[in-house]
Amino acid sequence: MKSSIFAIIMGKHLYRKPVKTADGSDTFFIPELNEHYHSRHGALQESCHVFVGMGLDVFKSMSEITVFEVGFGTGLNSLLAYEWAHEHKTRVCYISIEKYPLSEEEYSMLDYSIVSPNANELLGKMHKSVWDTRVEISEYFILHKIEGDLNSRVLPSGYDCVFFDAFAPEKQPDLWESSVFRLIFNKMNCNGILVTYCAKGQVRRNMIEAGFQAERLQGPPGKREMLRGIKIEV
Ligand SMILES: C[S@@+](CC[C@H](N)C(=O)[O-])C[C@H]1O[C@@H](n2cnc3c(N)ncnc32)[C@H](O)[C@@H]1O
Repeated sequence: MKSSIFAIIMGKHLYRKPVKTADGSDTFFIPELNEHYHSRHGALQESCHVFVGMGLDVFKSMSEITVFEVGFGTGLNSLLAYEWAHEHKTRVCYISIEKYPLSEEEYSMLDYSIVSPNANELLGKMHKSVWDTRVEISEYFILHKIEGDLNSRVLPSGYDCVFFDAFAPEKQPDLWESSVFRLIFNKMNCNGILVTYCAKGQVRRNMIEAGFQAERLQGPPGKREMLRGIKIEV
């Protein structure tokens, strides 16, 4: 089975190599899976477009929102959500689940000073923040990292915006099934949205089966489309 091969590679003899993407921002590459943590056309551009532009910006006028991220990974999305929260003076509770956290040696190799002058310091603080606890990073940003498997951990609820940032469906098909989208859908607030870089027809159908109204949107540089699901109030 593809998913168990994935788990063996990720869990046991995993080597993650830091690489520069086309916009100059860093990401990791897993040679054994031939998979990047972000688009090689630009990690920062992709995250800004998919998760900030098509996700967070929908909630610009709100004073408080809850974000749920699938895969904390490098912490880049979390960093961008922090910057967004301060820019818009919106209090963000950022919940992120991660099954295979980066080690200190690995995350210290990342340089996101392109995001802001204190980004690397902030990123270190986020990576070091205690798992499975709500940590107040700043007045506008609460970080709640959950260590574990999306498919088995009991999760909190009340999400306004979901960053669905798993590895590609070909690499990790079990995370893109309708049952997983349904689990998340049931924990979201009405009028909440889920954004993902993926634009596959089967993924869109799985989102619809889970209850979302799904739309195709313009993708980030290097990608024609992406998907956004909306939990419509009934
Ligand atoms: C495409 S990477 C993106 C990570 C992150 N959002 C970032 O910006 O770096 C996918 C992430 O999902 C994590 N992951 C894989 N399987 C998972 C699972 N079953 N439950 C939770 N996280 C998982 C991986 O370890 C990886 O960090």
